[in-house]
Amino acid sequence: MHLEETSLQLLKDSLKQLDAGFKKLPPASENASSPQDSRLAVVMNEVATKLQDNYPYFHPLYAGQMLKPPHPIARAAYALATWINPNNHALDGGRASSALEKEAVARIAAMFGWQEHLGHLCGGGTMANLEALWVAGQLNPGKKIVASEQSHYTHKRISAVLQLPFAEVPTDNRGRMDPSALEKMLAAGDVGCVVATEGTTGTGSVDPLPEILRLRERYGFRLHVDAAYGGYFTLASNLAAETRASFELIGRADSIVIDPHKHGLQPYGCGCVLFRDPQVGAIYKHESPYTYFTSSDLHLGEISLECSRPGASAVALWATQRLLPLVRGGEFAAMLEASRDAAVRFAERLANDARWLLPFAAELDIVVWGPRAKTVAEISALSQLIFDAAAKQNLHLALIRVPIKFFGAQHNLQASAADTVLCLRSVLMKPEHRDWLDRIWTILSRVADSAVGPVS
Ligand SMILES: Cc1ncc(COP(=O)(O)O)c(C=O)c1O
Repeated sequence: MHLEETSLQLLKDSLKQLDAGFKKLPPASENASSPQDSRLAVVMNEVATKLQDNYPYFHPLYAGQMLKPPHPIARAAYALATWINPNNHALDGGRASSALEKEAVARIAAMFGWQEHLGHLCGGGTMANLEALWVAGQLNPGKKIVASEQSHYTHKRISAVLQLPFAEVPTDNRGRMDPSALEKMLAAGDVGCVVATEGTTGTGSVDPLPEILRLRERYGFRLHVDAAYGGYFTLASNLAAETRASFELIGRADSIVIDPHKHGLQPYGCGCVLFRDPQVGAIYKHESPYTYFTSSDLHLGEISLECSRPGASAVALWATQRLLPLVRGGEFAAMLEASRDAAVRFAERLANDARWLLPFAAELDIVVWGPRAKTVAEISALSQLIFDAAAKQNLHLALIRVPIKFFGAQHNLQASAADTVLCLRSVLMKPEHRDWLDRIWTILSRVADSAVGPVS
């Protein structure tokens, strides 16, 4: 059996404990769709068969996009909560799960050094960034949002939704925001918020916070950190010094986004937005004629844009953090370190092999590389070929279109008329990737040799 089953027993045992909490209620008859109904088994079998049409995200040979299943404890805790189906909009709908959300979010804030904060969970990185940029826009109405040209496309779209002007800041050859280009934009005096991405989606590049913070002192702007992907690497001990220097400063931001459904071992959708100043809660102020009556304590709906939200997400996150605390040197940190280590070793192999072109060393656990060829068009065509051929050998990679400037002068690609080149990309976000590196390499080599022919 490839798929883990331990969570099923965990779920069964914990369900009994949950049930015991309601023993004072009179028995109620089972509803019409009881699991004894044989049609349920038929439909579930059909569902399982349909779900087979997926890439194997759980397997180490899936080394493509940012996808992996949740930790078994998250899976069991989430499923357990669905027996109650709490709604974390208000304490009316999710009393216990709201308390767990507040605790879990406070632990994430503490990871960035914040003892005081305002924050909550939400549907994912897009929703979390929307809230952060909405608050930025409320505080600096009409002013520009800027983010690097390698930032997630969501920032441009969100700015359009919020009807705020948006501009892209050029990056250096390693996909990081170029501080001198940022400074030129700031000099115009119309920037209200700078989005720094600590771990870009494409290449895992980390915008330089030391320089960006120096510019904040000079020009004054709201700093939002999009650490949807990279945030948890704050706990990793094996980052390069330059990357570490930026991660140490994330807590200086005005707002932070981090996605527990990426590196936090959670099911989708679990994003998190944090604000350094709890006073921004006033911006969320609204009246609800239907809720907020059961308690004078803070209802999470009072400080979030979404209304109904799964309390199960908070339950799963709390359980995961209880088992695997967010501390340096801990078991959870070791998982991130293993992923990072896998990326470093993989990149080293690529750099030392004549068949491949490596634009730059991985900053986190994402590696981008291309097959060596004479022209940009050939590199793009070969990347596609290798991507398809590897999938047939059960090795699932990803593709990415990157600016050719990432390859710098060393590879002599700048002569091309095209500005971008299609490359291969691997997000090595499962700790098991480290142990599977030899097998991944063997398949990749076989595929490349049959696509390109062995390089002597
Ligand atoms: C840096 C970054 N920001 C934002 C997002 C959007 O997050 P979501 O897909 O959870 O909406 C992503 C997703 O990959 C991301 O990597």
